[in-house]
Amino acid sequence: MEPEIVRNVGDLRARLATWRVGGETIGFVPTMGALHEGHLSLARAAAEKTDHVVASVFVNPTQFGPNEDLHRYPRDEAGDRKKLGDAGVSIMYVPQMQEVYPMGEQTRVILPELGDILEGAYRPGFFTGVATVVAKLLIQVLPTLALFGEKDYQQLLVVQRMATDLSMPTRIEGLPTIRESDGLAMSSRNVYLGEEERVQAKALYEVIKDMARRFRSGESPEALSQWATGCLVDAGFRSVDYVTVRDAGNLSEVEAFDEKRKFRILAAAHMGGARLIDNIAV
Ligand code: PAF
Repeated sequence: MEPEIVRNVGDLRARLATWRVGGETIGFVPTMGALHEGHLSLARAAAEKTDHVVASVFVNPTQFGPNEDLHRYPRDEAGDRKKLGDAGVSIMYVPQMQEVYPMGEQTRVILPELGDILEGAYRPGFFTGVATVVAKLLIQVLPTLALFGEKDYQQLLVVQRMATDLSMPTRIEGLPTIRESDGLAMSSRNVYLGEEERVQAKALYEVIKDMARRFRSGESPEALSQWATGCLVDAGFRSVDYVTVRDAGNLSEVEAFDEKRKFRILAAAHMGGARLIDNIAV
């Protein structure tokens, strides 16, 4: 069944109140639409873990830089609605700008450490936009559980940290990245890849997997970053913003492999007109 579309926060709250008073749990999957299997796996998991699922579709302007793809970001409300229905979502929340930024963007949520490194360094203001909009949506929906994909690993850490720091009552969980059959991480932005670029793009996952193996066998993170950058450029990437091994908990730089610690390899690189990101656990 297709989910009910709700476009303003008053209607959303009235709708959710009936579930809440009955003690029913609410799962939440925030998205920017153009949904793929990655989003749908989150929606299906939310439907298994909670009584009712709300998915939001809002292309949040404050997380796009001035030269980024806000205006060409793919949009498909009717297609998204059908997919969300099949995934067990009850409400598709499609707020108007007015509902999310009623008086402009005076109030912001800023994470000056976690939000300024890696993606934050290459996309200034990105995590302020993300943390602010996710905080607003969490306050509007007040879900029991909210799910995020590990594809955006730094975003997941930012949201978890924000929810902890602001004592939000929602449990934030991350779920594994969903990949195409050749390993490319699913992303709404993969549509920007040309045919040949799409084939070349699979190198991103292959290179970070190799990097993980070499890191475990003792190679230094710095040498590995240089090696991986070269591999990506050789594979057809136009440029590499970063490809790096970090501490999995706080994304700080690391010196060497240690089997008692958790690490994450994160990468961002440009292929044609698309900027692709990926990451894996070590
Ligand atoms: O990951 C996304 O699609 C967005 O950053 C999010 C979490 C929906 C906030 O706009």
